[in-house]
Amino acid sequence: MRVLVTGGAGYIGSHTAVSLLERGHDVVLVDSLDNSSRTAVERITQIAGRQPSFHELDVRDEAALSAVFLEERPDAVIHFAGLKAVGESVAEPLRYYSHNLDSTFALLRTMTTHGVHNLVFSSSATVYGEGQEAPYAEDGGLLHATNPYGQTKVMLERILSDIAHADPRWNIALLRYFNPIGAHESGLIGEDPNGIPNNLAPYISQVAIGRLPQVGVFGADYPTADGTGERDYIHVVDLAEGHVAALDKLREPIGVRAWNLGTGRATSVFALIQAFEAACGKSIPYEVQPRRAGDLAQAWADTTRAETELGWRASRDIDAMARDAWRWQSQNPHGYAD
Ligand code: NAD
Ligand code: UD1
Repeated sequence: MRVLVTGGAGYIGSHTAVSLLERGHDVVLVDSLDNSSRTAVERITQIAGRQPSFHELDVRDEAALSAVFLEERPDAVIHFAGLKAVGESVAEPLRYYSHNLDSTFALLRTMTTHGVHNLVFSSSATVYGEGQEAPYAEDGGLLHATNPYGQTKVMLERILSDIAHADPRWNIALLRYFNPIGAHESGLIGEDPNGIPNNLAPYISQVAIGRLPQVGVFGADYPTADGTGERDYIHVVDLAEGHVAALDKLREPIGVRAWNLGTGRATSVFALIQAFEAACGKSIPYEVQPRRAGDLAQAWADTTRAETELGWRASRDIDAMARDAWRWQSQNPHGYAD
């Protein structure tokens, strides 16, 4: 297939581009480079040995996006582009709602104009919100998020479902990611957060490389085995392969369907720190701090649906995630800025 990937220079998009190219798909990357670098595009080519097309543009620029559709004639779209920082979304809700909704509306109108109806959408486990218990299954309850970023995912899932129900030509996969971490095993592409990371794995990596002094462990009094929060970390290459599987599924008429992409296993904060210590061969200083507002004790995926319907299952363990994250961090101490 010829696949247009919005946000294709970003963390998950760049890994997905590699997986798509390796599976023989043609890839068209569209990215504003607001939260990514042209270097990522060069490295995708280096890893895959094939070059994707690249267009630097904001998908909200509908005229420019339409020109790309006209030139490239994609069969399907994977839509990663958007803003994703939870804390920032609480501080600037209007910017988040506006950006994530407007960009998706612009994309949907452009797809409609050009007769492209196959879409894979980046959703998040954040749509399971509060009041539900792990493991989360796709039909487990009402979708509700606790912050504006998560609410954009809930709203967009609803909007995409309505569109698919109204017009049977649409085929839409909603992929709910758990906690993507790690990097491509080449060490050439990986996560390159702007400023101080909000998420645990990139924070640990930056402590390990010496950019930050210590990890703050947000609570060691949870009702979990070691008292720290447990999450379903998934290797970003497994996640990327999940997108290729979802794209294959779109060859059948599915209408709209949600799939969890996780491993089905939970790992604590302490266990993740230990995995990074083993990977980098150094001890990683940490300090137990108060719980972070809005955090759950435990979250992990029920992966049954993705396994049975997509024929996909994550295969890389926490040690591989830490090892690959560390290879990326140590080879690129300042991310793509090096
Ligand atoms: P990222 O910021 O690395 O990638 C997003 C890319 O989109 C960036 O390269 C950015 O420059 C680009 N972009 C943003 N707005 C754009 C616009 N209007 N037009 C064109 N390009 C634009 O983020 P990521 O971690 O790769 O996340 C990709 C998607 O997955 C996002 O939708 C995110 O909400 C979702 N998601 C991420 C996680 C995670 O932990 N990383 C978890 C669940 C869901
Ligand atoms: C967070 C977001 C979620 C988003 C996801 C993207 C919040 C409340 N939730 O999820 O909406 O979809 O990122 O991957 O922000 N932790 C520490 N110290 C740190 C950072 C985190 O101890 O410096 C702990 C947290 O308490 C949690 C675990 O590590 O138990 C994972 O945290 P994080 O990486 O931020 O992911 P989530 O909270 O699952």
